[in-house]
Amino acid sequence: MLIKTTVRVIRKCTRRYSAVSLIDSTDVKDLNLLKDVHVMSDAITKAEHETLVRECERSLKRRRYETGHWDGVIESFREITKRDWTLESRKVFERLIESDPVEKLELKEFLPPHVLDLSKDGFIKPHIDSIIASGQMVAGISLLSPAVMVLSRESESLRILLPPRSFYVLSGTARFEFKHEILPGTTKWTDDSSIVRDRRISIILRDEIRSDS
Ligand code: OGA
Ligand code: MN
Repeated sequence: MLIKTTVRVIRKCTRRYSAVSLIDSTDVKDLNLLKDVHVMSDAITKAEHETLVRECERSLKRRRYETGHWDGVIESFREITKRDWTLESRKVFERLIESDPVEKLELKEFLPPHVLDLSKDGFIKPHIDSIIASGQMVAGISLLSPAVMVLSRESESLRILLPPRSFYVLSGTARFEFKHEILPGTTKWTDDSSIVRDRRISIILRDEIRSDS
C-alpha cells in the first residue's frame, strides 16, 4: 500500500508536461486571441518552487479557508497580498517580469504579488479581473497541483494547462474580453491524460493601472 502510494506521488511529481501542448484552442473562433495568451512550463526551478511555497505558507498559516458567498467568484480559498518576499523570491519575480511576454507589454509599475491558495475542492468561477484595480496584464505562477484554466467569450473557449512551476500571462483580449476560470476536479486533456486538481497556490502578478491611460 505504502509503495503504491509512494510510486503515485513520485509519478505525479515527475510527470513531464513539456511533451504536450499547454494550450487547447479547439473551440476558439478568432485565433488572434493566441497572441494575448502565453504559458511557459518550467518557468521556475524546483528549488524556487519550494522556496515560494514555503514563503506563501508562512504568510497564509493564520488564515482560514473561506467559502465564497452566493455572489463570490472563488470557492474554498485563502488569500493574501504579500509584500515581504525574500531576495530569492524577488529575483524570481524580476526574472519573470523581464521575460518576453511581459516585457513586450511595456508596463511601468507592478502591484505587490497576490497569493491565492485554493483547497483541493476550491475553484474560480468565470470572471474578468476588475479593470479599476489593475492594468493591462494578469499573470500567474502556479505551485503545487496542476490546474486547467478556461478562457471563454460567448460560444468560444480556450483551455490552458497550468502545470506546477509554470507561468502564464494574459493581456489584451484575453485579459479584457474573455472571462477566465480555474476548474475543480478532474479534466481530460488533449492527449487523453487526466489532470487531477488538488490544492493549488498561485502567485498573481498584475500591473498598476496607469493614471494617464
Ligand atoms: C484571480 C484569478 C487565477 C489563478 O485571482 O482573479 O483569476 O491562476 N486567479 O489563480
Ligand atoms: Mn482573475
